[in-house]
Amino acid sequence: MDLGIKGKTAIMAGGSAGMGRATAERLAEAGVDLYISARREERLNNAAKEISEKYGTSVTPVVADSSTEQGRKALFKACPQPDILAITIKPPAPNGDFLKVTPDMWRESIETTLVGPIEIMRNYIPTMKEKGWGRIVNIATFSAKNPMIWRLMSGPARSALINYTASVSREIAKHGVNINNLLPGMFQTEGANEIMKDYAAAFGLEPVSEVVRPHFLANNHIPAGFVGEADDLAPMAAFLCSQLARFIVGQNIVIDGGQHASLF
Ligand SMILES: NC(=O)c1ccc[n+]([C@@H]2O[C@H](COP(=O)([O-])OP(=O)(O)OC[C@H]3O[C@@H](n4cnc5c(N)ncnc54)[C@H](OP(=O)(O)O)[C@@H]3O)[C@@H](O)[C@H]2O)c1
Repeated sequence: MDLGIKGKTAIMAGGSAGMGRATAERLAEAGVDLYISARREERLNNAAKEISEKYGTSVTPVVADSSTEQGRKALFKACPQPDILAITIKPPAPNGDFLKVTPDMWRESIETTLVGPIEIMRNYIPTMKEKGWGRIVNIATFSAKNPMIWRLMSGPARSALINYTASVSREIAKHGVNINNLLPGMFQTEGANEIMKDYAAAFGLEPVSEVVRPHFLANNHIPAGFVGEADDLAPMAAFLCSQLARFIVGQNIVIDGGQHASLF
């Protein structure tokens, strides 16, 4: 299928690992030139080199923390006029007892999962409007729609993000600029591995995979019968970034192997 975006320029903010990297690969495969950002330089540079060599497109790494103004400025300077913008971060750590969630924890969650994506979108929407074409995709979380007591640092701020994009997407659709969100369930990624210790701490478990994994699987019934892999989401992300998605506006698409049952 021709996605109709060959030669366009995309930013994948959070593109060195997990679902962000897989999305960057699908975009590169479609002939898009990329800017990929992340905080950790070595993994980022390796990802840029590998993707560029594999698909023969230009991939520029930009060290930038999306949750800080300084980081966002670095991204804006490196790539002032993308046609496509996809944004993600690493999964926030699971919280333990909800009564122990502090104001500082809320502030960090909001800066990272809400303010960061909003500020990046706010910077690029005017130039996309001027061009009369743009695609924006946030890779957020299914707990935005399906509250989970141990995902308080991830879900509530993303509920606000999808509320924001529901309004803004309808305001800008007439300019050919579409925003949609992907809401992943449980995926096996580098980021998921990195928070295994926090998951263990949240549930009072010994932090070893023989203990954590069975607990995690019992705690998350996935009808598909397996935990997702980054490439179970990336093709949909690339599709939403494509010309073919021109009539898809302000949607939130859950990709979770059927974990949460809901009609809409
Ligand atoms: N994996 C799951 O099971 C799961 C479940 C539900 C929702 N999600 C959501 O899906 C999204 C992607 O998760 P993932 O598992 O693919 O994560 P991942 O494997 O950790 O990949 C995240 C990518 O974003 C970068 N990143 C993280 N924080 C950043 C920041 N502040 N600024 C710029 N780049 C940043 C990471 O590199 P650096 O760390 O070097 O910056 C990495 O390139 C997240 O929004 C997560 O909440 C994941």
